[in-house]
Amino acid sequence: MQNIIDKGRIERIEKLKREKNAIILAHNYERAEVRAVADAVGGSSGLTEAASEAGADMIIVCGVDFMTEMAAVLNPDKKVLSPVRNAVCPLARQLSREELNEAKKENPGAEVLLYMNSLANTIALADCVCTAANAFQVAEMMGGDSPLLFGPDHCVSYYIRKGTGKEIITVPERGFCPVHYKISLADLMKAKEMHPGAKVVAHPECRPEVQDHTDYLGSTGGIVRFCKESEGQEFLVAADVGLSSMLRNEAPDKTFYPVSEATICARMKMPTLAKVEEAIVTEKFRVTVPREIADAARIPIERMLGLS
Ligand code: 13P
Ligand code: SF4
Repeated sequence: MQNIIDKGRIERIEKLKREKNAIILAHNYERAEVRAVADAVGGSSGLTEAASEAGADMIIVCGVDFMTEMAAVLNPDKKVLSPVRNAVCPLARQLSREELNEAKKENPGAEVLLYMNSLANTIALADCVCTAANAFQVAEMMGGDSPLLFGPDHCVSYYIRKGTGKEIITVPERGFCPVHYKISLADLMKAKEMHPGAKVVAHPECRPEVQDHTDYLGSTGGIVRFCKESEGQEFLVAADVGLSSMLRNEAPDKTFYPVSEATICARMKMPTLAKVEEAIVTEKFRVTVPREIADAARIPIERMLGLS
């Protein structure tokens, strides 16, 4: 019964998309039912590229708030909708405009690189943004020998420093993603004991000590690519549990174990198929960014797009 209802809803959504010239963008951490109706599924990097090339009149972003804002910044004259009101990424709230301004004053020689998981009013003060997918590439092209001011995730900062050798000042000092940060080294060691032959893949929002015990470290899109292309047959996944189930579909001949079953980004799971349909019909919840902020935030986002 559930499948029949869902199939009908999927057909209605597809019809509405055609009628309203709408597209749906969905992050890799979204529910499978939502990814099924998406025109583009990917990590933050892929979704930014898709949003920058969108020819549609309406863009429904199934992801968290900084992703919807990014789409609105890149498409100021289009209707950008979120299927839910409060899909807040707690990491993106950990660096305020005021704190970044203060850090800029204290470090006048540093270029500002922000993790994409930041709100538009903060991104508006940055020289460039990056995602886990392009962090090394972007960091290497910035700043020459002078230090980079980077925020808000100190684990991603560790990842960039280790991968590029760049001098990085992190602001705030201890910003973190509460979902990935929950995975401890003890969790990983226990999982490795249970599956000694498995390769370990992790997202750079994981703690530094977890990052140091991996076979592959990268963005959600990078993890999918690595697992598909690797000769390994078993993988321990230090990321949202949804990524493990997505990987099972993408590589059905391989085995995937989440390092911790408790690693779930609840905000990413808020959009459902019913909410997506409601959003296209009612055109709620429209996301806009004040023109002045959007114009300033577009510069570092487009710089990233140009570099990567
Ligand atoms: P990606 O950029 O790797 O998709 O990650 C975004 C994110 O918020 C994961 O927590
Ligand atoms: Fe934000 Fe973490 Fe959820 Fe990613 S997993 S959206 S960083 S809370």
